[in-house]
Amino acid sequence: MTQTAQELLSWGLDQLTPVLGDTARTDARSLLAHAIGIERGMLSIQMLDSVGSDVIEQYKKMLAQRLQRQPVSQIIGVREFWGRRFIVTPDVLDPRPDTETLIEEILKEHAPKTILDLGTGSGCILLTLLSELPEATGVAVDLSQDALDVANDNANALDVKDRVKFVQSDWFQNIDGQFDLIVSNPPYITATAMDEIEPEVRDWEPRMALTPEGDGLDAYRIIASKAETYLSRNGHIFLEIGWDQAAAVMDIFKAKGFENGRCIQDLANKDRVLHFCAPKIA
Ligand SMILES: C[S@@+](CC[C@H](N)C(=O)[O-])C[C@H]1O[C@@H](n2cnc3c(N)ncnc32)[C@H](O)[C@@H]1O
Repeated sequence: MTQTAQELLSWGLDQLTPVLGDTARTDARSLLAHAIGIERGMLSIQMLDSVGSDVIEQYKKMLAQRLQRQPVSQIIGVREFWGRRFIVTPDVLDPRPDTETLIEEILKEHAPKTILDLGTGSGCILLTLLSELPEATGVAVDLSQDALDVANDNANALDVKDRVKFVQSDWFQNIDGQFDLIVSNPPYITATAMDEIEPEVRDWEPRMALTPEGDGLDAYRIIASKAETYLSRNGHIFLEIGWDQAAAVMDIFKAKGFENGRCIQDLANKDRVLHFCAPKIA
């Protein structure tokens, strides 16, 4: 029996809506478009076309995954970030639109030649910067080798592989050299907040990518304590932070000699990025 895309979409909506509410429509469209092998925007003009049994099977399988609260990006295997497609698996954080604020701020005024990305995950930050800055080279650090493997695949896909080195390291532990830019979106959710987070995040993304446990600030403490050693003389640090962490992280860096912190808001007007310049040598 053949079915049209329209029929499949409405069947998918009936499945997803009771569990997902408002996001059901967007998700069902994304999954159906992926099963057919077209961009989501093209679905509207193919609604009356019949689809094959292989598409129906794949769509049903993906709906079942979504009903288990697996994020759409993991099911379809990609996420768009700063206009490029990144491979996403359960081994990495799904790149967030908030993190684009970090990219925007860096590219506004800076053209670093050497970049250190601490906690690279999918590589979305460093690989975006390398794509935008053709003369730059970078080091991508993660404690998770599985995450580094995903970042490596993304570097290949984006054709920047020859300008990036991947290092498995507990923050700075296995890192040498000095960098014009140190950038990080470290795990920053508190242990308590993890209990209240939505299942898509809590059950499907790596816990080590989300929280350093405790008060959520340990990664910043480590980065602040070592950053000066790894920063070029006129270097810069850009960090993503939780919306309510600006004052605490600013204090942590101030205590290590970074007096010149600046906070930048995201599109929702929430504190999202901190910028520090290398301390001036007396
Ligand atoms: C919030 S995710 C950010 C991923 C990616 N940079 C992004 O913005 O989407 C934090 C990353 O830090 C890594 N990480 C956690 N603890 C680490 C440690 N001790 N040393 C290095 N990386 C660590 C995690 O594996 C994860 O990939």
